[in-house]
Amino acid sequence: MTSTTEDAAIEGLRDALGALKDRERVAERLLDSSAKHSFDPDKELDWEAPFEPGKWFWPPELVSLYGTPMWRRMSEDQRIALSQHEAAALASLGIWFELILMQLLVRHIYDKPATSAHVRYALTEIEDECRHSKMFARLITRGDTPYYPVSAVHRNLGRLFKTISTTPGSFTATLLGEEILDWMQRLTFPDERVQTLVRGVTRIHVVEEARHVRYAREELRRQMVTAPRWSQEFTRLTSGEFARVFSVAFINPEVYTNVGLDKRRAMAEVKASPHRREVMQTGAKRLTDFLDDIGVLRGAGRRLWKSSGLLA
Ligand SMILES: [Fe+2]
Ligand SMILES: [Fe+2]
Repeated sequence: MTSTTEDAAIEGLRDALGALKDRERVAERLLDSSAKHSFDPDKELDWEAPFEPGKWFWPPELVSLYGTPMWRRMSEDQRIALSQHEAAALASLGIWFELILMQLLVRHIYDKPATSAHVRYALTEIEDECRHSKMFARLITRGDTPYYPVSAVHRNLGRLFKTISTTPGSFTATLLGEEILDWMQRLTFPDERVQTLVRGVTRIHVVEEARHVRYAREELRRQMVTAPRWSQEFTRLTSGEFARVFSVAFINPEVYTNVGLDKRRAMAEVKASPHRREVMQTGAKRLTDFLDDIGVLRGAGRRLWKSSGLLA
């Protein structure tokens, strides 16, 4: 080996070691924070308290039909009922995401040393997601609203994705699932117009989710530097496709039928609503800025993101 290639190899090793150390440092901090701020929703929240009359189940501005002609014709009771069904649909979507995420995390750590902080944190995150999914299911049951599964097509796309996705692809999808819902939940838990139970559920989720977002972001940032080029390109495309699926799957259209509205008409009004477009783009902004920064939003992937309506 000439000395230049030797130098390059040593430098490469040093970078890899630096990245590993950095990864461990982040995970140690997240483990510390998990030890201090984790919640048991079954004990933390009053599940028996009656719902408060006149209060919303989701802030009205974040309900899909808000501001449309159909919304203006609806009674206050019907609007509140829609907020409850949309909260149940989002909780159902949350469970779907969390099930996918848990499998992605298990795959991510499968061949890594279980004594590392990075793996121990992934296991902690899986514990968090188990509690969250049970909490969301309990909220749906408590409200007597249906469970709103995503369509069979999306369920099967999810099945394929969680089986074949690469590491950076997995973390991009994780962030997509977590950040937009997180943005909505950050507006929900402090909102006094919203039911106490919903505020409690969203508060717990926001606190624990902040760590998940941190973990996924740091890992994705490293991966977009170290992953092979084909994998980076694959991430751009799958994330764009996932953004498209996500924007369609976001609200299950059965919510409209269940509160007595014409489903097709409601979907058309949501699609045409400038307010809704702004809500979704604002909710995705923190994520799209980050993805742009680390090079995920390029080429054909960027075009898919734009067609999803999540990127302005
Ligand atoms: Fe969660
Ligand atoms: Fe999470």
